[in-house]
Amino acid sequence: RDKVTIQTLQTLRESKVPISMLTAYDYPTALSCSSNPDIDITLVGDSLAQVCLGYKSTTQLTLDQMIHHASAVARGTTHPFLVADMPFGSYHGSIDDAVNNAVRMVRDSQVEAIKLEGGEEIIGLVRRLTSIGIPVMGHIGLMPQRHVSLSGYKVQGKNVASAKELVRTSTLLEEAGAFAMVVEAVPKELGRYITENVTIPTIGIGAGPWTNGQVLVWDDAMGTWLGHKAKFVRRFANLQAARELGVQSFANAVKDGSFPDPVRESYTIDPAEWTKFL
Ligand code: KIV
Ligand code: NA
Repeated sequence: RDKVTIQTLQTLRESKVPISMLTAYDYPTALSCSSNPDIDITLVGDSLAQVCLGYKSTTQLTLDQMIHHASAVARGTTHPFLVADMPFGSYHGSIDDAVNNAVRMVRDSQVEAIKLEGGEEIIGLVRRLTSIGIPVMGHIGLMPQRHVSLSGYKVQGKNVASAKELVRTSTLLEEAGAFAMVVEAVPKELGRYITENVTIPTIGIGAGPWTNGQVLVWDDAMGTWLGHKAKFVRRFANLQAARELGVQSFANAVKDGSFPDPVRESYTIDPAEWTKFL
């Protein structure tokens, strides 16, 4: 498949072909995302912190860690459009610092675009990044980097005021030049309303079936994450079971002496040479 571009994503939106996005955190998961022509976007999400690095919160992820992982994902990415999250704190100081950090993401890890959680307070930054050619994907609704101030990972936009605020934010992001936005954990009616109210692709996660695209965290979708399973998660594979079976089989074969096989899985020396050695 041809390389997916921002224009490709806009065309998919206009032709009502749902956009598929999966997260990846390293070279092998990047290869898996690239292995299927129907995957449009690979996202190096800061969920990296929890599902891959074992932290409790995305707020513990550093810019250096993100760049390290995003570089590996970039090396394994072929046709999907490649986006990475700016980690917590890396775009919350001055605009100049945020721009420098975004430049590092693009230059040092070769991602094509960056994703930012936030609303009105990041609009100036979105405009600036867009103006210097760094494409920005917004992220509204549930913003995991703010889970403490939100008092947990909760559905957003459930009352008139917060629903209106989210619609306003989506419009601001579009006007500031964002090329797409993730909409996380909102009622499906609001997911549809926001989608119909902007002209850039919306990618939903827990935002119902009517956004322009869908994204899931790799480990949730593939069943390698055994932590909390949100309502919006569907397991498309059970890799954990396959892994445990593999570990069990290896351990059994070592313990009972059947691995390695002395012929098929071992090297040998010329008998004449061995006699001289002895
Ligand atoms: O960090 C992440 O994986 C994300 C997606 C779930 C949208 O932001
Ligand atoms: Na994220």
